[in-house]
Parts: sequence; C-alpha cells; structure tokens
Amino acid sequence: MMPKRSPWQSPEAGALAATRALNSDLSVDVCVVGAGMAGLLCALELRERGRSVLVLERDSVAAGETGATTAHLSTLLDTRYFELCDMHGADKARAIATSHMRGIAHLERVANAHGIDCAFQRVSGFLCADDERQAADLRREAAAATQAGISCELVRRAPLAIADGSALHVPHQAQFEPLAFLRGVVRALQASGVPIYAPVSVCDFEIRSEREPIALSTSDGRRVVANFVVVATNSPINDVTVLHTKLAAYRSYGLSVAIPETIPALCWDLATPYHYARTAFDALTHEPLLIVGGEDHRVGQELESEQHWQQLEDWVRDRFPSAGRVVSHWSGQVLETSDGLAFIGRNPGQEQVLVLTGFSGNGMSYSGLGAELIADLIVGDDNPARELYEPARKPHSLGAVGRYVRENLNTLEQYSDWLGPADVERIEDIRRGEGAVLRRGLDRVAVYVDQEGGAHELSATCPHLGGVVAWNDAEKSWDCPCHGSRFDCYGKVIAGPAVSDLNQLAGGSKKAAEAR
Ligand code: FES
Repeated sequence: MMPKRSPWQSPEAGALAATRALNSDLSVDVCVVGAGMAGLLCALELRERGRSVLVLERDSVAAGETGATTAHLSTLLDTRYFELCDMHGADKARAIATSHMRGIAHLERVANAHGIDCAFQRVSGFLCADDERQAADLRREAAAATQAGISCELVRRAPLAIADGSALHVPHQAQFEPLAFLRGVVRALQASGVPIYAPVSVCDFEIRSEREPIALSTSDGRRVVANFVVVATNSPINDVTVLHTKLAAYRSYGLSVAIPETIPALCWDLATPYHYARTAFDALTHEPLLIVGGEDHRVGQELESEQHWQQLEDWVRDRFPSAGRVVSHWSGQVLETSDGLAFIGRNPGQEQVLVLTGFSGNGMSYSGLGAELIADLIVGDDNPARELYEPARKPHSLGAVGRYVRENLNTLEQYSDWLGPADVERIEDIRRGEGAVLRRGLDRVAVYVDQEGGAHELSATCPHLGGVVAWNDAEKSWDCPCHGSRFDCYGKVIAGPAVSDLNQLAGGSKKAAEAR
C-alpha cells in the first residue's frame, strides 16, 4: 500500500517537535492557540514587535492542515475575481489582490530574514480552461483580475498540461516547502524566547469582562492567563456557533507521482470539483514529483472517500502518460466561506480574542497576511485589510447570501441522520479495520472494528452541536458532517470545532465475536 503522507513529511520533520510540557500555570501578553503556519507566523510577528508570546498546541507542530497543503502561493484565489468583484465591488477586489501580494511577500521576507532553506521560489501561475465555456470564464477572470491590479495575460497552453485549452498566465506567484519553512520559523521562535507547549488541549475560554485578561483552562487542569488570545486552529475552538454558521468544511485529497524533472509552475483547472498541480522534490526520497490535489467534498458526506485518490490518479495518468509510480497520498481539510474571504480579526463581540479561519483553499498567503493583520490589531496599528476580513461581517451580496443559505441548509439536513437508516444493522457486518454507525434504540452508536476483531463502541453524537458522525474510510476517522469536527477511530478529537472526544460507551471495547 502506498504511504499516507504529504511530500513535505519525512522523519526530518520530527525536528519540528521542539515543544515543552506545560507543567505550571502561566501568564503572558499574547497566547497563540494552534502551532500551524498561521499560528506560528502570528507568534513570530508579535514577538518581533516586542510582545511576550507563548504557543499552545493540542497535538504537535504542523500536525494539522499545514502538513497537507500543496503550498501554492497565488494572488489568483480559489474564488474568481469576477465573483469577488460582484460580491464586494471593484475597490475591494483590488484590496483583496493587494493583501494577498503582501501575504506572499511576508512569507518571502520571513524566509530571507531568518535564512530559511525552504525552496521559496517565484514562479508563474496558470489557470487552465478545458473547453469553450471555461475559456469564456477565463476571459472574464482575465478582465476582473487585471482590474484588481493583477498582472496577467491569456496564453495558448500552460507548461503543465492539466487541461486542453487556453490558460491565464499570472507571473510572480510563488511556491515553497511548507514544513521546511516552518522548521525555520520554529528555530526563529526558539531564538527569540517564544515557547511552544504541546500536547496541550484548551477546553475553556474564561472571559470575565472586556479589558480583563482571559483565562484559558486546559484539559489537564492548567491555566494560562493572557491579555490577548489568538485562535489559529483552522476551525475556531473558542466559538460554538456564530462563526461556524458562516463556514463550510471540505475534505481535499492530494497525490504525488514520480516524474523525470520538476517544472517551476503552478496550475489550476476550472472543473467542479477542481484540480491543481505543481512540482517539487520529495522530502523523504528527494525524487522529483508531480503533486496534484482536489476532488473536494463536504466533510463526512461521502460514504467511500478513498475512491478520490483513485480518481486523482486516473486524472494524472490521462494527462501525464510519463508519470511514474505513486509516491504518496494524503488528505486535508479546507474551510470555505460564503463570500470567498477569510475571517481574520477580533472574534465577534470579543475585543481580546482574535481568530484566523475560513482560508478557503488559500491558507499560505492568508497565513502571511493574517500574521501582519493580527499583529496590527493587537498593537493598535492600522491595516488596509482590516475591514475586508472582519469576522463579524455578514454576507450581503446575492451570491454570498445564496451560498450561505445553501451551505446552512446542507448542515441542517445532516441532522436528519438521526431519523434515517443506520449504516449497518449488526457489528458483524463491519469489516476489520472499518467503522460504521448502528442504531441502538433511539441512540446512534459508532463502532470501529480493529484488525484483531475488537469492536470499539462510541456514542455517534458529535460533542460540538450533536451531529451524527460518519465513518471516513480514507482516514479511518469519525467525521462530523455538520461543521467538520473529526475524531480518530477510538474517538479522540483530532479537528475542531469540537474540543472533547466522542463518549466511550460502557463496555465499549470488546471482541466483535462477543458482540454478536
Ligand atoms: Fe458541529 Fe459536529 S462539528 S455538530
């Protein structure tokens, strides 16, 4: 079986684990929750502006979505500029483009300032059309992106042949190796005295009144008191409902295949679901790779998610006959917003809690621009992107409202799983190494059967807001279709917004044979 890892993950990535145990209560000016790209860049930026900072991480450095990114750094976003212009107006579309230019420049500046060897390289990006209908969208995008201040031109073909038609060429984009970059950021944080505590699970945010420090409680009974808290956990764990009605969680799949040589270019297509491709060297084998991704779908809403890797491989072999063996495969999680823009700034109604979320597939440039924006908000400096990414904003254009309603209707529909049929009727119907949800009276039970035939029974009720979790056969995890919380096969929470595990049922682990 091909290995489950992204091209950036290798034993050397273990050097990222430069963390400490949290053995005492602490107080600090700024506490960052989440040690991925966004959190660590915020920590570094704030430290460089003279603030005392510490970082808390539930798992280990870059254990979340940073390791899964394909690290396309582009000012051409996953939401087209003609849509952004319709939703936000021409002036804001220009400000959006400028903010992402700044975000990419921030990453480049950090890499240069700290001498980080992460293969940061300015390359061309190509948005690729497959047919005349897509070519028409490409022409609209060329006009809208140009109006937004992005230098671009239509060309006959992209250098990576991911589609049959013309392409929109955008020079001066960038690519890098995200975990190599983050290793350098961790070194810079250590050198400047910023500790990273892990594993530490934050389970409560106590906010007594505005202007008073915030007390964070951890699951093992420690307290961290901070003047400001930055929540950089991909899905915000401080907020139960407000932001989550404005976010939709998607799984996205990645695959790398051996190729003869790398080609410095980033490519995307206009298909639904869409695909993207770049090249790089594998961190483990050091061979040249074609890295492709896509096949996105709402979390917890596909019964056979493993098939998406096969579909990606078929897609590659159709287009790249010289592609060699599959080197690795992996998946990650993307949070989409209804108006195509992230939420970066003060948590609605809370002056001292700041969030970064809803990166909508552009997490690297958002991490760079987010670090500057969060630091500006905390130190009281102005930032031209402040209003754009305001977390309290509401969707107001017809397109954004329509998408907001569709995604929330989808979420509400997921609660009907309480009334629908179970996946299987008996534990003996579950294959070894797989899971399924059973009905037991009015309750739903999530059962994982391990390779030895042991049946592990959990409540199927998501501790966030009561959705029914679904088995993810690709990752061997329990995923909630409502807001994207994820739990490992034994019920341990691995992705928020849930902050606690699935409930173990009494006598929940037994041999499947005994359970029959
Ligand atoms: Fe919200 Fe499960 S993630 S109910």
